[in-house]
Amino acid sequence: MVEVSGARQWDRMMELAKLGAIPGDGVNRACLTELDRAARRLVISWAERAGAVASVDAAGNLFLRRAGAQRDAAPVLTGSHLDSQPQGGRFDGAYGVVAGIEVLAALHDAGVVTARPVEVVAWTNEEGGRFQPGCTGSMAWAGVAPVDAWDEVRDLEGVRYGDALAALLASEADLPRRPLGSRPHAYIEAHIEQGPLLEAEGLDVGVVTGIQGSRWFRVTVTGASAHAGTAPVSMRRDALQDAIRAISALNVAMADPDDVLRFTVGKMVVSPNSSNSVAGQVVFTIDLRHPDRDMLVARGDAVGAVIQQALLHCTAEIVETFHALPSGFDADVMATIERAAIGAGVTHRRMASGAFHDAQFAARVAPAGMIFVPSKDGISHHPAEYSAPEQLARGTAVLARALVELAG
Ligand code: GLV
Ligand code: MN
Ligand code: MN
Repeated sequence: MVEVSGARQWDRMMELAKLGAIPGDGVNRACLTELDRAARRLVISWAERAGAVASVDAAGNLFLRRAGAQRDAAPVLTGSHLDSQPQGGRFDGAYGVVAGIEVLAALHDAGVVTARPVEVVAWTNEEGGRFQPGCTGSMAWAGVAPVDAWDEVRDLEGVRYGDALAALLASEADLPRRPLGSRPHAYIEAHIEQGPLLEAEGLDVGVVTGIQGSRWFRVTVTGASAHAGTAPVSMRRDALQDAIRAISALNVAMADPDDVLRFTVGKMVVSPNSSNSVAGQVVFTIDLRHPDRDMLVARGDAVGAVIQQALLHCTAEIVETFHALPSGFDADVMATIERAAIGAGVTHRRMASGAFHDAQFAARVAPAGMIFVPSKDGISHHPAEYSAPEQLARGTAVLARALVELAG
């Protein structure tokens, strides 16, 4: 059996975490930035040491392929993402990519030739922190939307997604270009849990059964900017005051006595954002999640009317930017992961994912599954995010066994 090196994997995790390091052990590595490019080059160098070959598709997804005995057989695919939240941690996404490369390295060290190729992918823009929505790379790859669907999306500095992606591809013109989309034999993504269950129950890995649905909206409230000292309040069209009214109404409409619905307004951009000017425009985001399809559809469909009814003086434009209904993983892949956990001698349980992942789009084109490892105190999307080296190593040992079984 191939032996993964927990020490090598940890060293690589920590080396990757230097790219975009922020105080408190966190990482700020937005997608399609210089830091993101540096991270990609670093993982390419590791993969090449394991005999893998890099290629890039039109969505900027980076693939690292270790050949199999059957050259043209559908590969077994694993991976995750290298971009982070603006105030993110060292493990969200990075773990799945490094774990995949650790499996390639372990195969290489052991001189194992699998029947099928094994590929590691680093998907473009999973987080949606810089450009909304997230998962644009895996959505384009899976054919959920055309690759240029998000070209006009702008970051806070006004940079177009299409331009940032073109710049990335230009910087990687030395790498072979591969066609967008493929049909892997199977896809398995290793990821930190980002919640408290595995730690609370003292378990090593989670076998993920599915991912709750997410709907994102961008709300633009437009009023008129004015002088804070001279414009009578009764004559204002204050966009910030109406945005507050809209969010307050949404809090009531999205209240869930069962506390299963997740409603978040996490981003607000106020213009002109000056203490002595009335706000002329406010753009805010809504992130809505629920494991039940009908509930998510019903609550999401209500968002527009709730906002419009709450406004007093302004107009609002509401655009749905992400529509990912709940998804389930493949029964055979889950069983393969469970066999791998038993073989690796690690404790496990089945569990659903509250976070979204590229795996939910990979699941549309291939049998897919995910492996979770514990997160300290359940913290994620925060610099304090932490999983111990041996916890990551156990997850990767399970990943290695599952990939080897699938790759033959
Ligand atoms: C992924 O980062 C998510 O927000 O679930
Ligand atoms: Mn992630
Ligand atoms: Mn994340």
